Amino acid sequence: MAATRNSNLDDTFYQAAEAFFAANHKVGLTYDDITLATLYSEILPRNTQLDTSLADHLHLHIPVISSDMDTVTESRMAIAMALNGGLGLIHYNMSERDQLSQVSRVKYHVQGMIQEPIKVGPEQLIGDVLALIEEKRFGFSTFPVVDAQGKLLGLLSGHVVKPRYATKKVIEALTPREQVHTIKKKELGKDPIARADKFFTEHLGIHKLLVVDEDDHLHGLITMSDVERITQERKAQFKPARDAQFRLVCGAAVSATRNAFGELDRERILTHVGALVERGADVVAVSTAHGHSKGVGDTVKVLREAFPRLPIIAGNVTSAAGVEYLADCGANAIKVGQGPGSICTTRIVAGVGIPQMTALYICAQAAAKKKVSILADGGITKSGDIVKALTLAQAVICGGMFAGCTEAPGEVMEIGGKLYKQYRGMGSLAAMKAGSAARYGHEKADTTRKLAAEGIEALKESVGSVDRVLAQLIGGIQSGMGYLGAANLEQLRQKARYIRVSPAGQREAAPHDVVELKTGN
Ligand code: XMP
Repeated sequence: MAATRNSNLDDTFYQAAEAFFAANHKVGLTYDDITLATLYSEILPRNTQLDTSLADHLHLHIPVISSDMDTVTESRMAIAMALNGGLGLIHYNMSERDQLSQVSRVKYHVQGMIQEPIKVGPEQLIGDVLALIEEKRFGFSTFPVVDAQGKLLGLLSGHVVKPRYATKKVIEALTPREQVHTIKKKELGKDPIARADKFFTEHLGIHKLLVVDEDDHLHGLITMSDVERITQERKAQFKPARDAQFRLVCGAAVSATRNAFGELDRERILTHVGALVERGADVVAVSTAHGHSKGVGDTVKVLREAFPRLPIIAGNVTSAAGVEYLADCGANAIKVGQGPGSICTTRIVAGVGIPQMTALYICAQAAAKKKVSILADGGITKSGDIVKALTLAQAVICGGMFAGCTEAPGEVMEIGGKLYKQYRGMGSLAAMKAGSAARYGHEKADTTRKLAAEGIEALKESVGSVDRVLAQLIGGIQSGMGYLGAANLEQLRQKARYIRVSPAGQREAAPHDVVELKTGN
């Protein structure tokens, strides 16, 4: 009985999206301006499903995407995102060739296989190997030995990597090729971990398996400890996001590139995207600050015509007309967000942009009519923001939440005893000089003169692995869904009821009137 929604009283105060946003149409609202009302629930958070579909051929197991920014997503981040069921969009602040090889790394990533194991040469001294271990602080001392062409010669076991043998050559100390356990790459099949697991069970005391090709060139190394860890993780609720060939999914960002005459460079865009598709990219994102523009629309049209089945993300917009325009051009998923990002200054510099919840509502209405999805891009600072965004959008795109992760590009730096990583807006001067000027409507030649930057350069505290950060975020999303009685994201969108929060209500929402000893994380 209590299960049914009681009363008009609740409905008067806690309104569904249509009524709520219509009643608040004169003010732009963002995440902290609203809160969600709880509903009767029989759903346990851990039983909620987070699968989402962004296009006919693009399905994720969690609705979280890492931003196409040069301090957020390269292959390591994209691999980590896909392994957790999400998606990484490789940024385009690099040469087209480099972007292709980044995509390849994701697509050919064999979970549990170290693709480029540290190797040693036959003529090196054991003393050199010891110095390398010391210098690089390796936590291991067993190395494959290869010749100059990468052909496997043997294995240098940790048992002989000792100072007493420092003057001996590797070739004198190695376990010879014929005694080294190997497997051909193609024998790993669709489930390399299960295959390696079987191998380790059958070969008592062997902890390392080398992967070679038909010509005995080394292609990777699988360790028993990694296999055991992954087998444990497989019991986890969210499976990796994979394509039909069991490869991890990966996206790549492209810009509306112009030629020397200022016209859209169709040839170049088509050649590059063709190569991305050949490498197995599952989606391309035409990423700019102003998606409701001729350059972006034309790029999407050109791509849609050439690649009818390719999922295309395009953006960014904050208006219904913008969504309709990009959907009509052929985009499947539209990025929504202008100026909400943690490193964005678009609203300050250009005076434009819309607070995110209002923008999402307007765009969601248009998207539903056009049967496309929307992605809430920027401004996410906590899992509660994601729950709110997912009441309107099919997925969220996060930059700042992942920029401090180990898998983000860039080195960790220590400042005043704390560890940080660099995080910069793609519209910051430094990023635009590195190539992203087109995203903000500037010509590359413009970067030699003074540009109006629309982003800042910043630092994020180092936060450890993506696995750890995502575990926190997913826990929060599932918790929110449990409170609303939503078993899946479709139900979350249907059930959401909103109310505005006063400034006092916002203060009440965060820890207050206590001396905080430990943060929630
Ligand atoms: P968060 O809040 O997740 O935002 O750090 C990431 C998103 O911000 C956008 N972006 C920018 N927006 N100036 C802007 O106005 C910039 O320099 C900039 N760089 C990134 C982008 O949509 C990203 O996903």
